[in-house]
Amino acid sequence: MQVNVRGGAADRVVADALVLGVYEGTSRLTGVTQAVDKATGGGIQRAIKSGDFTGKAGQSIALYTTAGKVTRLIVVGLGAAKELTTERVRQAAGRAISQARVMGLKSVASLALGADKLDADEAAQAVVEGAVLGNYIFAGYLTQDADRKRQVRTFTLIEGDRAQLAAVTKGAKKGDTLAASVCLTRDLASTPSQDMTPADLGTAAKAIAGTSAQLKATVHGPEDLKKLKMGALLGVGRGSAQPPRFIVIDYKPKGRIRKTVVIAGKGITFDTGGISLKPAEGMEKMKYDMSGGAAVMGAMHAIGKLRPAGIRVVGLVAAAENMPGGRAVKPGDILKAANGMTIEVNNTDAEGRLVLADALSYAHRLKPDAVLDLATLTGAVVIALGSQCGGIMGNDDELRDFVIESGERTGERMWALPMWPEYKELLRSDVADMKNSAGREAGTIAGAMFLAQFANGYKWCHLDIAGVAWNDRDKPYAPKGSAGFGVRLLVDFVERMAAKK
Ligand code: BES
Ligand code: MN
Ligand code: ZN
Repeated sequence: MQVNVRGGAADRVVADALVLGVYEGTSRLTGVTQAVDKATGGGIQRAIKSGDFTGKAGQSIALYTTAGKVTRLIVVGLGAAKELTTERVRQAAGRAISQARVMGLKSVASLALGADKLDADEAAQAVVEGAVLGNYIFAGYLTQDADRKRQVRTFTLIEGDRAQLAAVTKGAKKGDTLAASVCLTRDLASTPSQDMTPADLGTAAKAIAGTSAQLKATVHGPEDLKKLKMGALLGVGRGSAQPPRFIVIDYKPKGRIRKTVVIAGKGITFDTGGISLKPAEGMEKMKYDMSGGAAVMGAMHAIGKLRPAGIRVVGLVAAAENMPGGRAVKPGDILKAANGMTIEVNNTDAEGRLVLADALSYAHRLKPDAVLDLATLTGAVVIALGSQCGGIMGNDDELRDFVIESGERTGERMWALPMWPEYKELLRSDVADMKNSAGREAGTIAGAMFLAQFANGYKWCHLDIAGVAWNDRDKPYAPKGSAGFGVRLLVDFVERMAAKK
């Protein structure tokens, strides 16, 4: 979808529809909304007066004008004015776009919803994010279903106030960059594993690096992995005909580097469970077991374009296919991770923590100020927290709270789980330094406790996104399917880290 920003009067816009927002409880329209309503025949005011439309968050109506240039209005509820957040704006814009898609419209114009209450650039960014993300479909494999390909082609933000135009343009551009990066992540995660092998992820990383002079991608194959002593990643990859990869995407800013942040992602391109085979039911969804890695790649794409100053960001993706082949790692086998620790593999389905063990060991050499990892690590986090937030754990409470704040700002919410040292008992092994699975007890925390053994020496947080990476139902700006979760959180985190003393 092409995103534009235009100055001038909203009722003069040439588009299939114009989007406006109304706060809950509005009885008389004011400002631009009032001006547009007057110029187009007063339909919005009538809808409010009839009681059909109250401006409640989640409401949207389409109106046909009786005057003026634009023929359709899409009016969305923004909820109570004093409760307005950028998340509300993203959701409202997402709903407006869905409405336009259902109607088969191709060009949509919109006011910068919420710009009267929020900073104009933040509001514009949120509107564009919501619109572009709400317009997303994964259609690469559809040949027949033309209806599902209904998408809006152009989206134009209208700003009548000349003093605000620069801010709206800046916000829209940022929103467009971020949303495009999220869509990239969604594409990677939705692509079936036959076409998204560890090698394919490596190719995608190279393509991402090609979009910015500040990015460089290195893709390590099996021979390199041996030299890097990544026995855990190699072990997971052993049962598959598709050899593993360790992907490094390095962002170096122009000028002085004051900080280094590492973001690492689980890149299991398909998780059968290995010899500890998963049940057939729902196994097809395990193509998205590289969503953490895909989020890291999307974030690196955005960072390459947004070019934050003073901060180096290194994205790591530990990519492998977890298969039960004849050479596969078996329960009871012992692997040696890159930091020298030995791991008894008592369950080959706890493979995410194995590949991340090597990534987190590798991170030490970058002397990072902070390391985040993202992973669809446990089914347990889906049981504990559902699909409204991810689980976050780490070895530094201040860093964890800082990450949670980025989650609040971007609508990608995280909830903290405890990391008391006693939980480490769950991973005790008789024959190796630890085992990889603690069974069903405290599954999400046990996963994080395992990772913590490889992250000692730097500040680190683990984000378990198994419950939020994929939507089984449509959300306001995330159609059913891959959510592209984590990209916007990561970028916000990096930018705030760069700005922090
Ligand atoms: N990829 C799965 C976790 C998962 C489950 C992601 C559901 C998304 C939706 C992970 O590799 C896994 O299999 N975890 C095991 C760990 C257990 C063996 C300790 C699990 O959660 O059952
Ligand atoms: Mn697994
Ligand atoms: Zn997995």
